[in-house]
Amino acid sequence: MSRKISDSTVYVGVDDLQSELFESQYIIPEGIAYNSYLILDTKVAVLDTVDSIMASQWLEKLSGALGDRTPDYLVVHHMEPDHAGSVKVAMERYPGMTLVASAKAIHMLPQFFEDLDIAGRTLEVKEGDRLELGTHSLQFLAAPMVHWPEVLVSFDESEGALYSADAFGKFGALSRCGFYGRDDEDWTCEGRRYYFNIVGKFGAPVQTLLSKAAKLPIRTIRPLHGPVLEDNLNYYLSLYDTWSRYEPETEGVFIAYASIHGHTAVAAHKLADMLEERGVSKVVVSDICRSDIAENVEDAFRYPKMVLAASSYDGGLFSPMSDFLYRLGMKNYSNRTVAVIENGSWAPSAARVMKESLGKMKNVTVLEPSLTIMSSLKQSDLPALARIADALVK
Ligand code: FEO
Repeated sequence: MSRKISDSTVYVGVDDLQSELFESQYIIPEGIAYNSYLILDTKVAVLDTVDSIMASQWLEKLSGALGDRTPDYLVVHHMEPDHAGSVKVAMERYPGMTLVASAKAIHMLPQFFEDLDIAGRTLEVKEGDRLELGTHSLQFLAAPMVHWPEVLVSFDESEGALYSADAFGKFGALSRCGFYGRDDEDWTCEGRRYYFNIVGKFGAPVQTLLSKAAKLPIRTIRPLHGPVLEDNLNYYLSLYDTWSRYEPETEGVFIAYASIHGHTAVAAHKLADMLEERGVSKVVVSDICRSDIAENVEDAFRYPKMVLAASSYDGGLFSPMSDFLYRLGMKNYSNRTVAVIENGSWAPSAARVMKESLGKMKNVTVLEPSLTIMSSLKQSDLPALARIADALVK
């Protein structure tokens, strides 16, 4: 069912509850929504399509919402296939429809749709341009790298609506997580995991978009994933500001361990106990071999301090920790304090590799000395472990 969200705007997006992974890598136990909107004014505009796997359901919804009208425009804010995957079928179904997008998006079209012939049916727009629909007028703003280079967002002043593309998106199908966002942990948990893994690398472009958005009288945010946001927009804007500045959000320590036979895990949990004894309000311990790596990335960014505890392996670092550090580097992990614990049975090598990776990250302070345990944590290791706990609470 489509859903009216104002007198003349209809939500025609779809829930994907069949895909196990988003972008073939992120688990989505509650599915994901591909949002699409329809503005019925003097002119009719469809805002974005959906992933091709949901094309039939989307077209059916769209057709029902259109009634006896036909769309004049298809606005493509973002060319990634989870949104533009149904452009070809839509343009074929509605031959009178003009595709409106940035020059870069129009350039990308044949890369995805080799045999799409829409010569004369495209309208190139850029920042500052407007698409007049009648009482509605879409004002375009460039949002390059949020999260691809061709991205535009648009603002409909008549409804105070920001169509924000991937920004302010969230994992989770709307039938599972609600149609309207709530400014609480429900939105924030999966909104944060989505942000740091999808958009996290692009903090500076997000900051640019936020400064443009600050000049607009926004009353609602309509993203391409997740709930429509209407209440307490400052909550979401403020989180995006914190996240895109790479500033920590919550006081606490995140302990990530990669343990082969369980001994490194013992050290990680012992350190967690020591931190709690010292009054640290929030200590999160994660076995990164057996948990969602995207959630671990999220937690690394959430807290100001992190502990990495890992086994040595093949003269280097146990691969789950290596993968984790690779992802943190990719997402511009920065501005944090990190303590390192390594385990080894004959030639410990994990700390060296972890420190090398951390050393390449911006403004990451590695606490020295790190702790080396030989095969298992012993009584004689506890004073050094306690010194790490002391340094972390300082
Ligand atoms: Fe939801 Fe960058 O696509």
